[in-house]
Amino acid sequence: MNNSKCRLMLMASGTGSNVQALIDAVNHGQIQAEIVGVISDQPQAAVIQKAQAAGIESFISQPKDYSSRKDWEQSILDFCQARSSDLILLAGFMRILSADFLQHYPQQVINIHPSLLPAFPGRQGIKDAYDYGVKITGVTIHYVDDGIDTGPIIAQESLKIDPNWDLAQLESHIHQIEHQLYPTTIEKLIQEKVI
Ligand code: GRF
Repeated sequence: MNNSKCRLMLMASGTGSNVQALIDAVNHGQIQAEIVGVISDQPQAAVIQKAQAAGIESFISQPKDYSSRKDWEQSILDFCQARSSDLILLAGFMRILSADFLQHYPQQVINIHPSLLPAFPGRQGIKDAYDYGVKITGVTIHYVDDGIDTGPIIAQESLKIDPNWDLAQLESHIHQIEHQLYPTTIEKLIQEKVI
């Protein structure tokens, strides 16, 4: 990367509260970067409205609209490359990206996961930790590889579970951590010029 601002591409399938936190952090100057797009595989996802409200271009790409997984990933790659993305941030993107895709962005695709990996990977990290009865859980930011929540860990923050919390309370505490940790971790990477 040269002296120009880091160009962030965001990918999400759902509510987009982490996308919103990243948008807010960029708008408040807490992340020295520019968000160049939001990609989703879910046309009805609330994250699309959040992108639109922020004036960010969005792109919906569903595997079912392509003849192969390779073509679907190519559509995403084209969108990212056309906008000269430096870093791709997954925030609740519920699909696996292949090694073929990832080789175009080595150490440049990052994910947030709502548990202390390698514990509780997969779709329901918060519920799985809660159901297991662990006393401490947390949030992980990691580089993405072609496994499920398996790439090298960049940052983690732990959270002690209050035995009086129900699942919704735990989720709320986890999301509060996420909304701080993702922006601060990304800004740190940008400042350290790791990217
Ligand atoms: C977050 O808990 C994130 O860690 C996980 O998916 C959830 C997405 O939530 N990967 P949101 O759409 O950002 O609100």
